[in-house]
Amino acid sequence: METGLQNRVAIVAASSQGIGRATAEGFAAEGCGLAICARKREALNAVAEKIRSQYGAEVMAEAFDVADAGAVRDFVNSVVGRFGGVDICVTNAGGPPAKGFLATTIEEWKRAVEVNFMSAVYFAHEVIPHMQKKKWGRIITVTSITTKQPVADLVYSNAVRAAVVGLVKSLANEFGKDGILVNNVGPGFTATDRLKELARSRSASSGKSEEEIFDGWAADTALKRLGEPRELADTIVWLASERASYITGQTVLVDGGLYKGL
Ligand SMILES: NC(=O)c1ccc[n+]([C@@H]2O[C@H](COP(=O)([O-])OP(=O)(O)OC[C@H]3O[C@@H](n4cnc5c(N)ncnc54)[C@H](OP(=O)(O)O)[C@@H]3O)[C@@H](O)[C@H]2O)c1
Repeated sequence: METGLQNRVAIVAASSQGIGRATAEGFAAEGCGLAICARKREALNAVAEKIRSQYGAEVMAEAFDVADAGAVRDFVNSVVGRFGGVDICVTNAGGPPAKGFLATTIEEWKRAVEVNFMSAVYFAHEVIPHMQKKKWGRIITVTSITTKQPVADLVYSNAVRAAVVGLVKSLANEFGKDGILVNNVGPGFTATDRLKELARSRSASSGKSEEEIFDGWAADTALKRLGEPRELADTIVWLASERASYITGQTVLVDGGLYKGL
């Protein structure tokens, strides 16, 4: 399948491991110039080096927190300075803590809003003017199945990620005329470090072993297994490609049939 992504410039946020990293590799494999970020510099630089040597891709890597508006602005400016523009922006960040409502704190609510919602606002705000100049762009937010179906004890995610969907739909409506397509991808249970962290927390609160927790999650899907980061990445790369040129304002779940609704 010809994706038409050769020489496109892709930002993939929060990409030193997990879904972000797999997505960065997916764009590198398609011949894109790549800009990646995460907070821990050493791990990020190691991933950048690996992607350069494996795919021959040009990779820019900068360590910062996506909840820092100024850092996002500086990063996008550096990407444009180095590559001459930006075509694709995948917003992503670490997930919020797993908690029921009465265990939440105001500080954590504010942090969840900053990390899992405002970061998408910051990136969109910076990249859209560059995409408008080219009359072509793709913004893809990585959120969660919680945008369609709340998950027990993930109240921060259940609440805050809904705002991202509202943002995605609004941007899709406002900037479709400029050739900018905006979509949201919602992972189900995907085998990454984040899921191990959730299993640990669920195990501590339920008394079940982590293995039982993983088995239960897999059993809850139609496909009876967890997802792989590459399966998320393939969907994101496809949404950015010319093969998905009439899709905008949508949430695509990559969840193995975990979502129970029609
Ligand atoms: N895995 C799942 O089953 C699943 C299911 C539903 C939704 N999701 C959501 O999908 C997203 C990606 O999940 P994942 O499983 O790939 O997570 P992960 O394995 O924990 O990886 C998170 C990545 O984001 C970076 N990161 C975290 N916070 C950041 C910040 N504030 N600024 C910059 N970089 C940051 C991390 O590096 P540093 O620590 O160095 O910053 C790391 O590279 C998360 O929002 C997660 O909640 C995941």
